[in-house]
Parts: sequence; C-alpha cells; structure tokens
Amino acid sequence: MNWNWTQLKTVGLILTAIVFCPSTANGQNERNSLAQTPPMGWNSWNKFACNVSEDLIKSVADAIATNGMKEAGYQYVVIDDCWQVSRDENGFIVADPQRFPSGIKTLADYVHSRGLKFGLYSDAGTKTCAGRPGSQGHEYQDALQYARWGVDYLKYDWCNTGKRNAEEAYSTMSNALLATGRPIVFSMCEWGTAKPWLWGQGVGNLWRTTGDISDKWSSMKKWPDGGCCEYGMVDILDQQVGLESFAGPGHWNDPDMMEIGNGGMTIPEYRAHFSFWALLAAPLIAGNDVRSMTPEIQEILTNPDVIAVNQDKLGREGRRIQKNGDLEVWAKTLKDGSRAVILFNRGASENEVTVSWEEIGYPNHLTAKVRDLWAHKDAGSFTGNYSAKVASHSVVMVKIAP
Ligand code: GLA
Repeated sequence: MNWNWTQLKTVGLILTAIVFCPSTANGQNERNSLAQTPPMGWNSWNKFACNVSEDLIKSVADAIATNGMKEAGYQYVVIDDCWQVSRDENGFIVADPQRFPSGIKTLADYVHSRGLKFGLYSDAGTKTCAGRPGSQGHEYQDALQYARWGVDYLKYDWCNTGKRNAEEAYSTMSNALLATGRPIVFSMCEWGTAKPWLWGQGVGNLWRTTGDISDKWSSMKKWPDGGCCEYGMVDILDQQVGLESFAGPGHWNDPDMMEIGNGGMTIPEYRAHFSFWALLAAPLIAGNDVRSMTPEIQEILTNPDVIAVNQDKLGREGRRIQKNGDLEVWAKTLKDGSRAVILFNRGASENEVTVSWEEIGYPNHLTAKVRDLWAHKDAGSFTGNYSAKVASHSVVMVKIAP
C-alpha cells in the first residue's frame, strides 16, 4: 500500500496521541507523575506555627543541605500557614512584607540553589486555619502565582470551607495546578473527614487521614469545644488501620507531619514514631528545628535503613498483622520480596514479641536473614519465626529476607 504524505502525517499524529496523551481515567497522579515514593521534606508548622520568615526558611534550607538530611532524601522545604497577609488590587495573594521582605520568588530561588525544593500552604476555604486569605474563588490565580514563584509543593488545608464538597474543592485546585504546566506535588489536608482515600488518587499526591498530630505519645484529649481530639502519635497510628490498600506510588495516606525532635516524647518513642511513618509509607515531613537538633534526633531522622523501607519502590503501605493487648506486629512487603517488620510494645514494661513467618507470607520451614534496622546489625538466620525483647513504648524494627 502506498501512503501519501498527508496520510502518513495523520497516522503519525494518531500514534503520538495514543502514546503521549494522558488518560483522564488515570487521574492526576499519573499525569503529574510526582511522589512515586512518599515525599520527604520539612514543614514549619509543628515547631514554628505562625512564626515563619524568610530568614527561618533560608537557615532551615542551609541546615538540610549540609547536615546529612538532603543526602538522606529530604527534599521539600514547605512554609505552612501565615506567610500570606492579603490580596492585591488584582486579587493576587500577597506575602507578609515584614517577614518575607525579599519576596517568595527570591526565597524559592534560594531554596532551589541549595539543591532543594520549595513548598507553600493555602486553604480551600475563604480563610486559612490561622485566618489568612484562603484560595476559594482564586484557585487558578493562586496556582499561576505559585508556578511563577517556582513552587514545587502545595499543602492545601480545609478550614472555613462552609458547605463545600471536598472532592470538588480539591479537584478545582488540582486542575488549576495542572493547568500551570509546572510539576507541583499536591498535599491535601482535609483531615480524613470526607474519606479522601476513596477519591484522592485522581486528585492529589497525598491526603491527611486524621486531625492534627501533637507532640505526645498518646492523648485523645477533647478540644475545648468538645470536638475530638488532640491526637498523640499512637492515636494517629491506630487510625491508619484499614487504609493500607488506598496508598501507592503517586498517592499516599498522610498520617500528618512528624513531631520527632520537638521535645514531647522520649528517644525510644521518637524512634517508634519514625519506624511507623516509614512502614506506613507515609510522607516523611520533619517538623522540628533541624538547625539545632541533637545527634540522637538527627540519627533517627536520617537512618538510611529505615528510610529505605519508606522509599521502597513497590510503594506498599505496611499493616498491623498481630495485636495481643499492648504487643503488636506490623509488616510491609518490599520490592525484593523481603519484609520490614516492627515488633511493638505499647505497654509499661519490657516484653517479648514474636513474628511468625506464616504471618508475613513465608512458609514456616524457610530460613531467613534478620537485620535489625536500629542496631544496624544482622541478628542472624532464623527458621519459622523471630522473637525479640521490646522495651516499654518501643519498637524493634527488622528486615526479614529469605
Ligand atoms: C490545620 C492543619 C495543620 C496546619 C494548621 C495551620 O490545623 O491540619 O497541619 O497546617 O492548620 O493553621
């Protein structure tokens, strides 16, 4: 068959369209192709709340670029609430001129110059949670401004949204970000109210599953208005049970930013916090003052073996596989077929915890190597099960490889 030039061009165009056009059925995550492993970075809120400024962000970026965090994988430096004060006469969002005198673009450039990425915060309602201007009705304009500034990550909150439908509101901003053409990770902070795990995959790259974390082991304290609750770390952990199947590359459950190093928990408790966030394939967003942390805290946040579990390319979220009062076992399947396992003791005194091979999907006659990810040493080869003594409020985290 002889093809003329016009026919060839038409066939070429059709083939190009098939190969390169994103399928809308795949949703935004496949289209923006970001966060193929859980995002890692730092956010200002847990430690600094509204006390943000360009000096703070620059010094945090300096610290992350030089203290080993960048090499460990931390990438996004995110300013949370309170950077914004008003809108200009054309409706564009205005940064606090006292706290950010050089402007957001200059600051984003600085963060980029340190080899890191830059993130901002806004809200789907009329006002942010701290009462600053929200993005409602300004979504496309705000997305355009973020793209012009060089924003790589947007955390989008849910205060003052009235009767808005969450899926609709988050989709509007998601589409606005896509329309800019700039790859921007979209972090949805809706606190789990409208079950974002059911619809979030086509909209954002991560979604909060609960209310805010606090720097405590456990709390469940009611808010002054009677609403629920100030959550400690284990209260948040418990609320992740059952959500595992909704996470995967490009779309993650977010149990909130980490409190490691903020002073409210012990070192073993912070180690447990980090172990669980890694096993849950949670975004690893540090929330402490990384400019002045102790070596012990730094060692927790940069443990390469534990981070490798979080960043495993298979993108499976780990799950609880055993509960026996205060003693639990959690496991995550890794790409090479091995398992990351947490032996967990919530109780007040030391106890032995055992994981059997059967529980993690191996035949009991199998001999497997066990590596302790906090002791950084091989525990040996075991057949059928592995047991360890676990101190109070602590974990033993191992990798089990046949
Ligand atoms: C909400 C969010 C927090 C933080 C604050 C800022 O509470 O859940 O993570 O962003 O707002 O005001």
